Amino acid sequence: MAKGLICAGGEATRLGELTRITNKHLLPVGEWPMVYYSLALLQAAGVREVLIVTGQNHAGEFIDLLGDGHTPTREGEPLFDLDLTYKVQTKAGGIAQVVAMAESFAGDDKLVVCLGDNIFEYAEVDAIRSFVEEQESGAKIFLKEVPDPERFGVPQFGEDGEIIDLIEKPVMLDKRFTEAPSNLAVVGLYCFDSTVYDIIRTLEPSARGEYEITDVNRAYMERGNLTHAEVQGWWRDAGTYESLGSIGTLISETGANKVRKSARA
Ligand code: G1P
Repeated sequence: MAKGLICAGGEATRLGELTRITNKHLLPVGEWPMVYYSLALLQAAGVREVLIVTGQNHAGEFIDLLGDGHTPTREGEPLFDLDLTYKVQTKAGGIAQVVAMAESFAGDDKLVVCLGDNIFEYAEVDAIRSFVEEQESGAKIFLKEVPDPERFGVPQFGEDGEIIDLIEKPVMLDKRFTEAPSNLAVVGLYCFDSTVYDIIRTLEPSARGEYEITDVNRAYMERGNLTHAEVQGWWRDAGTYESLGSIGTLISETGANKVRKSARA
């Protein structure tokens, strides 16, 4: 089985006063601390061994909250039955830098990466399993139509509907663009084979000084080894302008990390 990685670092200044003294991924969203949603997604997809990378100031709080990953609810109901490992990122340098930190943890295994602030209506179990069990090599990304693609990684499509480029924050960061080349966001859920670490070693920092996950995905695309799937239900990046309260309301209305009946057992 693949291993999992949750990226839970960063200063989250976009959340203003909320992240002055705590880590974004520990803030409440609905009935759960934010990071629970990524853990639940990986668990639903059958991933058991998960690495959590977070910043130095709050690493202890993650361990206080999650322990070794065999975590019951307060009522003693089963919640997580995961095998957790922790690593500390002392200087924020982008998502690709966090993925690089998983090399000794995941070795030759495939890696499913979740950004700890991304929340999904469906756990994308079928797509993740098809990557793990059937896609021999390469990477898989997940796409969702959004009203504001310039805030995200965005795919550009060729005439035959194939992805011909991936752009990190067109207009906002990648100034070659005056508008986003599509209205799809590359969401914070990625599947990689173990060549990802070699790819990351070849990267240069972007204009915002970070090692971009979009550059990793583009490298797979250039090799012809990138597949993609559309996110089935709603998707939220809880690190943006939308209030955590409204995302919590959405979750209470529809549920999160649901597994479709059609999903393979
Ligand atoms: C990151 C990625 C971006 C992706 C987004 C999803 O952006 O760089 O490609 O679309 O997560 O949430 P960030 O949140 O670091 O600005």
